[in-house]
Amino acid sequence: MTGRMTRPATIVTGSSRGIGAAIATEFARRGHRLTLVARSGEQLDATAAGLRALGAEAITVAVDLRQAAAVETVMERATAAFGPPDIIVSNAGTAPADKVERTTTAVLQATFDLHVAAPLAFARAAVAGFKERGRGCLMHLASTAGLRGYPFTSAYTAAKHGMVGLTRALHAELAPAGIDVYAVCPGFVDTEITRNAAAAVAARGKLSADEAFDRMAAQNEIGRMHLPAEVATAVAQLVEERPRGCVYALDRDEPGFVDEPPIADGRAT
Ligand SMILES: NC(=O)c1ccc[n+]([C@@H]2O[C@H](COP(=O)([O-])OP(=O)(O)OC[C@H]3O[C@@H](n4cnc5c(N)ncnc54)[C@H](OP(=O)(O)O)[C@@H]3O)[C@@H](O)[C@H]2O)c1
Repeated sequence: MTGRMTRPATIVTGSSRGIGAAIATEFARRGHRLTLVARSGEQLDATAAGLRALGAEAITVAVDLRQAAAVETVMERATAAFGPPDIIVSNAGTAPADKVERTTTAVLQATFDLHVAAPLAFARAAVAGFKERGRGCLMHLASTAGLRGYPFTSAYTAAKHGMVGLTRALHAELAPAGIDVYAVCPGFVDTEITRNAAAAVAARGKLSADEAFDRMAAQNEIGRMHLPAEVATAVAQLVEERPRGCVYALDRDEPGFVDEPPIADGRAT
């Protein structure tokens, strides 16, 4: 993006709760005009009402992003409200966890549809406009599961690696056109996904939900859970400061890019 945008038109998927709602809130404070996306219209409306109370403009689009026409619907509604989007944050996600023996192709496919196919569809839909305007940003909420393996999460870990791979390819292709493409990789974050995972461990009977939660936190390199607001701040800073780089590891005492492909040097601006 050339310089700092005033009142960017921003789409945030998975923004009814958790990390996506925190990102939308951070952007609302920074003056973005927001399109919120998730399946549950009711939860989206509640989040949007909170953003409007902060003085932000926000619309909601309730769709299942695994459905073929969903991205098109979001782009149409967002563009009708605020003009072509400047920033698209692909954050919507689910985290299926199971033994490999029980991980079906259907689960793998559904996970890829959400974490890889939907971000690619947003890129496909937005890039012509980004190129015309010489700016734009695609932000992908990836994970340390996109950088290394975790047990009992073969579909999720494969999808997050897919998301990181997609980000690297888009960055290599689009950076020369002035388009920023980032993946942010937190470790475990204190949200519903993590609380549900802890409850699922507790249901198996060996640990309490609190113990399972603490064990997950201890797996983070920073030694504790990330908070959604911390992830949101990192996302907002990348979008505003547009540093050169692509895959941003957050679960570090000193967060930073884990690769900086040389193609970034060819960026137009
Ligand atoms: N929590 C963590 O420890 C952690 C760590 C690293 C990365 N992440 C990533 O961060 C992102 C957000 O996770 P979170 O922890 O904030 O999860 P969360 O609290 O469960 O929120 C997930 C969001 O995605 C939406 N969503 C889920 N499936 C969808 C679908 N098919 N179509 C449209 N929207 C959908 C949910 O709303 P509906 O259910 O109403 O659709 C909700 O708004 C995910 O991509 C996740 O993989 C999370």
